[in-house]
Amino acid sequence: MAQKPNYGIDAPGVIRNLFLAGVFFLAIALLFPRVTIGHIEFQLVPGFLWPAGYFILTGALMLIYSLAGKFRHRERMLAKVPWTGAEQVLDVGAGRGLLLIGAAKRLTTGHATGIDIWNAEDLSGNGPEGLRENIALEGVGERTTILSEDAQKMSFPDASFDVTLSNLCLHNIYNRPGRDKACAEIARVLKPGGIAVISDYKHVRQYAGEFTKNGLQIQLCPLDWTGTFPPLRIVIARKPA
Ligand SMILES: C[S@@+](CC[C@H](N)C(=O)[O-])C[C@H]1O[C@@H](n2cnc3c(N)ncnc32)[C@H](O)[C@@H]1O
Repeated sequence: MAQKPNYGIDAPGVIRNLFLAGVFFLAIALLFPRVTIGHIEFQLVPGFLWPAGYFILTGALMLIYSLAGKFRHRERMLAKVPWTGAEQVLDVGAGRGLLLIGAAKRLTTGHATGIDIWNAEDLSGNGPEGLRENIALEGVGERTTILSEDAQKMSFPDASFDVTLSNLCLHNIYNRPGRDKACAEIARVLKPGGIAVISDYKHVRQYAGEFTKNGLQIQLCPLDWTGTFPPLRIVIARKPA
C-alpha cells in the first residue's frame, strides 16, 4: 500500500496526446528548419514552433492543475458550504476522492458518500481500490461510503443529502439529455435547505439552467484562471427550505 494518498492525473490520455503533438512539431521544426517543395521554401522555424509551444504549454498547465491546482480548487469549493459537521454529503464522480475525502474531514457526526462509474480515461488509476486506499491513508473510513453508480440514475431516495459536490464529472456525459438527467438527479436527492456545489470547465450555464428548472436557486461564480486549467467555473445551487 502507498504511503501517501494519490489523487491521480485528470484526463491522462489528453495530456499525453498534447505533449506528443508538441514534441512532434518541435522535432520536425528542429530537424527541418527549411523545407523546399518545388520552387517554394517553407520556414518551419518559427512556423512550427507556435503549435509546438501551444500543445506543450496546454499539456503542462493541465498537469500542473492535477498535481497542485486541484487541491486549492477543492478548498475553494468546500469553502462555499457552511459546514456544521453533521451533513450527509454526496460526491458525484468521486474518482480518487478529492472532494469526498476533503468533505469527510469536515464532518463529525455526518457522512460522505461518493459515487462513480470509474472511467479509466477520465482519471489515472481510477477505480474503487484506489479510492479505498486514499480513504484509509486519510483516516476517514468511518465517515465515508463508496458506490458504483451513474450520476444519471442514482439509487438514493428523494431529499437524502444536505450537500452535493461534483468536480469535472458531468461534462464526461457526452449527450445533453444525459447531463440534464444528472442535474435533475442532483436536485432530486438534495434535501430542502441543502446546497450543491458543482464545478466544471464547460456546460456550467447549462447545469445552472437545469437546476433552475428543477426548483433550485442558482449562484454562478466567475471562471477561476488561477491554478485551474482548463479554467473551472463553480455553480452553487440551493434548494429552498
Ligand atoms: C476528471 S475525474 C474527476 C474526479 C474527482 N471529482 C476529482 O475532482 O478529482 C471525473 C470522474 O467522473 C466520473 N464519471 C464520469 N461520468 C460519470 C457518471 N455518469 N456517473 C458517475 N461518475 C462519472 C469518472 O469516472 C471520473 O472518476
